Amino acid sequence: MKVLYATSECAPFAKTGGLADVLAALPKTLAARRGVSIRLVMPLYGSINPSWRAKMKFVKYIYISLAWRNLYCGLFEMKKDGVVYYFIDNEYYFKRSEIYGHYDDGERFAFFCKAVTDLLPQLDWTPDVVHVNDWQTSLIPIYIRRARAGDPLYDSIKTVLTIHNIEYQGRFGAELADELFALPASLVDDGTLRYGTGISLLKGAIECADWVTTVSPSYADELQFPFYAHGLEQVIKNNSDKLTGILNGIDTKLYDPQTDPNLAHCYSPETVVDKVYNKLDLQQILGLNQDESIPIVAMVSRLVEHKGLDLVAASLDSIMEMPIQFVVLGRGDWHFEQLFANAQNNFSGRLSANIMINFGLAMKIFGGADIFLMPSQAEPCGLSQMMALRYGVVPVVRETGGLRDTVAAYNTETGEGAGFTFANYNASDMVQTLQQAISTYNDRETWLTIQKRIMSLSFDWTEPAAKYMALYRQLTGKR
Ligand code: GLC
Repeated sequence: MKVLYATSECAPFAKTGGLADVLAALPKTLAARRGVSIRLVMPLYGSINPSWRAKMKFVKYIYISLAWRNLYCGLFEMKKDGVVYYFIDNEYYFKRSEIYGHYDDGERFAFFCKAVTDLLPQLDWTPDVVHVNDWQTSLIPIYIRRARAGDPLYDSIKTVLTIHNIEYQGRFGAELADELFALPASLVDDGTLRYGTGISLLKGAIECADWVTTVSPSYADELQFPFYAHGLEQVIKNNSDKLTGILNGIDTKLYDPQTDPNLAHCYSPETVVDKVYNKLDLQQILGLNQDESIPIVAMVSRLVEHKGLDLVAASLDSIMEMPIQFVVLGRGDWHFEQLFANAQNNFSGRLSANIMINFGLAMKIFGGADIFLMPSQAEPCGLSQMMALRYGVVPVVRETGGLRDTVAAYNTETGEGAGFTFANYNASDMVQTLQQAISTYNDRETWLTIQKRIMSLSFDWTEPAAKYMALYRQLTGKR
């Protein structure tokens, strides 16, 4: 089985979110299997660390024609962990400090997608499956389908699209279909690309890919409803016979409280009481009052509304009336950043606002915190709650998407469950659930039992990788 992954981000080369972690782990896990050959292609961003850049080898260059443009495309490669990584070079498009957020993102990723499609016959290797991710690579299954008509090479390739978040769709004006993406008006007229009066590249990929996956079974179900589907509920319903939800994993070697070098004190499920040393360390680093018995509630998140920040903003005062300390880490919308920065002054010694992205600090927070708050409006999968579980930080989550699939609700009667959950997107339900978690925290025996249990849950990539493999086999009929 030969699989080519196409992505706009992949750790450690370029990362803005969970997509990069998935693309760092899944290809590597599959590459370790016998008889499997895995490659991955991504843009050669200017922001990629020079030490990686130095390890890349120039392969060739070609010219890409896209609408009226004729564009240079360099190809670099690097082998790592059994995977061949390809990097698409065009300095005009990719030598910029940020990977997204430019006025011409549509044009940049159209170039990338056309380059990947045109390179397929130029490699010394033809994939059985091209697996694309989110809107940035959504043009690939559309271009491949158009290239198929009679071309045996493209005919032999199956395409898979994974939706990591349906909110970001690559929506553009309909006039750009031809002008920018070199796609005929017929694809707009027949509805393949049409979204309202414009087009959605993700929609086009849902229509054109041979299979569509998303990152949890619950999110796959939720996508049939307008609240979650951002206008694509009908196209999801029409394509439900080729849609499956496969839960992501996490890198359990990287995220391991028994070996994590960021922790003041490593611990295992058996020694989870030792988390207290990490708590004291965290309190000292963040300028919180040192108190080993007070529960620390933590959020490590993008500070945006769909992560549930509006619920937290609306109830911050009631949250801070509880006997807790509150730690926030992340960046996002200006008004949420400001809210926490101000709250740090108002609740000095009890609230720590870290408006930044900082991997080492994130791990220290998982090491020292007791409760992890993640009240997302929608959560396709979510990786932080799995990290929290692994570090014995009990999650308080809304029952949605991957949160629902990874955090079984604690049952006071039977004592079973992994965290505290609420169903409706509503600030008072969240506050009540948090209160329930805090009163359970005070019952030390019960709390320790929950911590031991959640630390022993397994979220590594073995099972998800096997599911993807089964899907590729079913699609291609190959081993
Ligand atoms: C997106 C989703 C998140 C998911 C990640 C990886 O960032 O919002 O829920 O975990 O992709 O699939």
